[in-house]
Amino acid sequence: MTLTQYIPTAIREQFRPTVQRIRQYRQSTMRQLVDSPWWPKPAIWKELKASLAEVEDPRRLYAIAAREFGILQIETEIVPFLEYVRDSRPKCVGEIGLKHGGNTFLLMRMFEPSTRFIGLDLVLQNIGKARFLSRAGQRLDVIEGNSYAPHTVNRTRQLLGPSRFDFLFIDGDHEYAGVRADFEAYYHMVRPGGLIAFHDIVPDELARTGKRHSESHCYGGGVHRLWKELRKQFSHREFVESWDQNGFGIGVIVKPNDHQIMGSISASGSVST
Ligand SMILES: C[S@@+](CC[C@H](N)C(=O)[O-])C[C@H]1O[C@@H](n2cnc3c(N)ncnc32)[C@H](O)[C@@H]1O
Repeated sequence: MTLTQYIPTAIREQFRPTVQRIRQYRQSTMRQLVDSPWWPKPAIWKELKASLAEVEDPRRLYAIAAREFGILQIETEIVPFLEYVRDSRPKCVGEIGLKHGGNTFLLMRMFEPSTRFIGLDLVLQNIGKARFLSRAGQRLDVIEGNSYAPHTVNRTRQLLGPSRFDFLFIDGDHEYAGVRADFEAYYHMVRPGGLIAFHDIVPDELARTGKRHSESHCYGGGVHRLWKELRKQFSHREFVESWDQNGFGIGVIVKPNDHQIMGSISASGSVST
């Protein structure tokens, strides 16, 4: 028996949204506290951090990301892709869709110490750990919320200030409208010559057959559709283990100089196809 059972259902229903908001606020405040630099870190993280100083091989870093965080990437796609991005020496990196934070960890360990990161997700996980295991001098700012909601877009713009992303990795909402909304909202925050990457450019089983046969939880959604449109218009590269696989695959476009894109992207950022 709990006390709430004595409260009439109509009143409970009326106050349910407020109670939920208070709970969410409490959870998010607690998470921010645990993620803060002054919250004591477990000894096991400290040992891991010390051992990371000697790890440069991206395949070893991938294995650590999988073990310590969880990462929804194929090693033979993400490793050569990040090596390609690293060659452009990005100093300002955006990531939409962090999930467990394994990909964030990998980006941070592979890119230079002075790099700045901004990460967005509906629900943030393992941020304190990712920050703690980052390279000296790196900074990770995060925003919790819908990536293409005006509030989140404005907050990202504020965090960026006068800088622009050198590299943006989009792996958030996988619905066609959602991934397109991300592309349109953030395109103008990427510098000309910068890179914009999409995960899950390979159609998944559902997209190919209209049915989900296997037990796989992979959901590529409509990313492959947007990718088909973009690859016609932009200089691009693809990192795909196999076009027969169920989802995954990374596509990256190079943002041209603004004057070159007038025909394909409107002032609001939308792509004409
Ligand atoms: C496929 S997972 C990302 C995997 C991660 N990039 C990795 O490589 O391990 C997709 C993530 O996008 C987030 N997401 C989905 N829709 C979103 C939205 N509208 N705004 C922000 N994040 C979103 C989900 O919460 C989830 O964490």
